[in-house]
Amino acid sequence: MRFCLALFVGLWVAIAPALAQGDLRGHGGPVRALAIAPSGDIAISGSFDQSAIVWSLSQGKALRILRFHEGSVNAVLALKDGFVTGGEDGKVALWKTNGDRPARIFQAHTAAIAGLALSPDGNWLASAGWDGGVRLQDLRDGGGSRMLEGHKEIVNAVAFTADGKSLVSGGYDARIIIYSLTGDVLRTVVLPAPVSALVIAADGTMAAGCADGVVVFLNNAGEIAVSVAATETPVTSLAMSPDGRTLAAGSPRGAVALIDIAARNLRFTLNGPGLPVWSMAFTPDGRQLLTGGADRIVRRWDATSGEHIGAIAGAGDDGVPGPYREMPGADIFKACSVCHTLQPDGAGRAGPSLYGLFGRKAGSLPGYSYSDAFRNLDLVWTEKTVSRLFEIGPQAFTPGTKMPEQTVGNAQERQALIDFLRVAGAPR
Ligand code: HEC
Repeated sequence: MRFCLALFVGLWVAIAPALAQGDLRGHGGPVRALAIAPSGDIAISGSFDQSAIVWSLSQGKALRILRFHEGSVNAVLALKDGFVTGGEDGKVALWKTNGDRPARIFQAHTAAIAGLALSPDGNWLASAGWDGGVRLQDLRDGGGSRMLEGHKEIVNAVAFTADGKSLVSGGYDARIIIYSLTGDVLRTVVLPAPVSALVIAADGTMAAGCADGVVVFLNNAGEIAVSVAATETPVTSLAMSPDGRTLAAGSPRGAVALIDIAARNLRFTLNGPGLPVWSMAFTPDGRQLLTGGADRIVRRWDATSGEHIGAIAGAGDDGVPGPYREMPGADIFKACSVCHTLQPDGAGRAGPSLYGLFGRKAGSLPGYSYSDAFRNLDLVWTEKTVSRLFEIGPQAFTPGTKMPEQTVGNAQERQALIDFLRVAGAPR
């Protein structure tokens, strides 16, 4: 018996990391968008810190940091073999699962992209733009795109109907427009308040989250079926459970409400840290809800009880030493600071302290447990080598490293980051 227990405990310790359930930290700004891949293990998040992060949910850690957009990453989608990001720069980027540069880029809008949707057959990508348009892009080889008109103000959300035959958009003009894939307006529905989020269930039920805190349900003909008062402040994000039974409605100033779709009533509100949230996604088995918060953390919740899962981590500070906050590189460093401090005793984070970095041999900070790849590097950190590290990315520059893949593509931003590291991390 004792042997069994010991074996069990030993096994538990061995597999515990694989069952990591805690919060996901890696973003330097509010988490604006979230999606989970169909396999259920990989999630992608987009943030005001201008990056998207690919996460392993079973390992509870960041796998890759995708930096491409000039501005916040407002919308993300997970594909079978990659990801889509949409940014404040009006660009849509398609990424392969292991790519660190976009495989395809579309300048879809002349203003920020607020929402993305993929047709059920994977052939069409729709984006909602703050330029007032909806862009429908044919993703097949040689496919073109068209801009769908009809909204009078910014467009916040898009979704395909379950049969993939029409596209639905919602905007600040309080209109929901249903389009055919050839761009014809099939129906326009005027709601009492501006629309900021939209989801469609497999049975055709549509739900729109509105600026008056109400979630409006429409039937598949686009007629208003019922309205549910979800929060006291505007509903800005919605997520539907894969079985179509539960709708989560989030608001930047309030709690997340979980609504029973069949009964059309409020089941409960999430109870815990990390609120308000900006983005949400259910796991494919419907058991967990992920939320992306203003506190830069992606948190996990039990979708049946509404309880927060895992140890409660405080948001902490953003790691930028006060006197250097105004430097242009400080904003970029916020994305590094979840793993690196600039303190001489910067232990306890995932990466080594970057205090006194320049002139230091790579992999040499006493007390930090580097990867084998790093321990064997013959490299000194200078402006040139740090710049190269983030120009081509850690995987190419220091193969085998455990630093998640990320690049800072713009030379000016790289220089700003280096200037910041040199000054804010100077030996004192
Ligand atoms: C999600 C965690 C994470 C993020 C975010 C991150 N790093 Fe790292 N970084 C690491 C880890 C882990 C290592 C150690 C690498 C190894 O041992 O293979 C490392 C190593 C380094 C090193 C080498 C340090 C040494 O002592 O040799 C530098 C320089 C560095 N990172 C800079 C940055 C900068 C600048 C950013 C932001 C643009 C950044 N990192 C973002 C995790 C991270």
